[in-house]
Amino acid sequence: MGRKLVPIKRIAISTGGGDAPGLNAVIRAVVLSALNRGWECYGSRDGYNGLLLPEQYPDGGLVRLTRESVRGITHLGGTILGTTNKGNPLCYPVETKSGRVVEKDRTDEVLRAFRKRQIDALIAVGGDGSMQIAHAFARKGLRVVGVPKTIDNDLDKTVITFGFDTAVSFATECLDRLHSTAQAHQRVMVVEVMGRYAGWIALNSGVSGSADAILIPEIPYDIGKVVAKIEERAARGRSFSIVVVAEGAKPKGGERAVVAREVGRAERLGGIGEKIAADLHELTGKETRHVVLGHLLRGGTPTTFDRLLALRFGAAAVRALDEGRSGVMVALDPPTVRYVPLEQATRRMKTVPLDCDTILTARGLGICFGD
Ligand code: F6P
Repeated sequence: MGRKLVPIKRIAISTGGGDAPGLNAVIRAVVLSALNRGWECYGSRDGYNGLLLPEQYPDGGLVRLTRESVRGITHLGGTILGTTNKGNPLCYPVETKSGRVVEKDRTDEVLRAFRKRQIDALIAVGGDGSMQIAHAFARKGLRVVGVPKTIDNDLDKTVITFGFDTAVSFATECLDRLHSTAQAHQRVMVVEVMGRYAGWIALNSGVSGSADAILIPEIPYDIGKVVAKIEERAARGRSFSIVVVAEGAKPKGGERAVVAREVGRAERLGGIGEKIAADLHELTGKETRHVVLGHLLRGGTPTTFDRLLALRFGAAAVRALDEGRSGVMVALDPPTVRYVPLEQATRRMKTVPLDCDTILTARGLGICFGD
């Protein structure tokens, strides 16, 4: 016989990892759906830092969220709660007496802080790291529902994460704009987009924005193949080319371009676009420029698709708690939003399948993947 659940009176919400357009829409949907059930709602500041470092939050690390707090925020980028990608309670960076920084599991401290504030359940919004934290909390007995967020779209078990559509739309618009300069100056333009381990943004924007080559982490590239593509175009009188590269792309037999590794956070990537532009200049003799879209892809107003998805996810997360669910992540499975055990959702990363329709489409159009 299952344990009888105490009725929910008070829930908390946290947003963790890199920000993504749609976070505020989730917060609004969660807060209104909770208040409309007669529950109280609290927001943890900067992931779980509001609970782990309360002294740094004079106005409170866990703040009461009211109708006023979430008024008019659906269309805003960022997150009113703040976020962090260096505050993972499973491997929190702490400095030892000798000055060395080591990782410490601080999940029990977070759970104690929730209990102290009489929080009955948590809605955790974030990417793969946040879903792993949520899973750990659920295993330790907290009622938790996860909401998948990332512009990279690399979370498994959901057809799409919110934030991705906004990032792809903006990257596509940038490619459209860069076409004019590329054509006018007969240049090769290399455009680096985010996508640490998965090339979804590069692939979808590259195909939509008529790129000539798309380099993604899933397909290690041979620069000679990209050169051949540029030269083949030149031979047809097309003396400019557009190359889209995911930040996590790597040459065959080579490594990702890592700029920093720090305790308690994911590696930071950067520089691959610049390298490819330099290589292409050297090998083709063509004038080449590179542009890094980087964090521009994470900002701004969410598209209608992302807003609606974020609102649907937020409302579904509250419904899940109301139905007595825990240890699950809301997931888009058109036309519905369903619930997937966090244990399944966190098993693997969703990379681009090499035989997916968008890759086949790109190959059909003659786009080069450097393979
Ligand atoms: O949100 C994921 C992501 O966009 C990755 O593609 C990228 O590597 C990372 O965020 C960068 O995060 P930050 O520079 O904010 O640490």
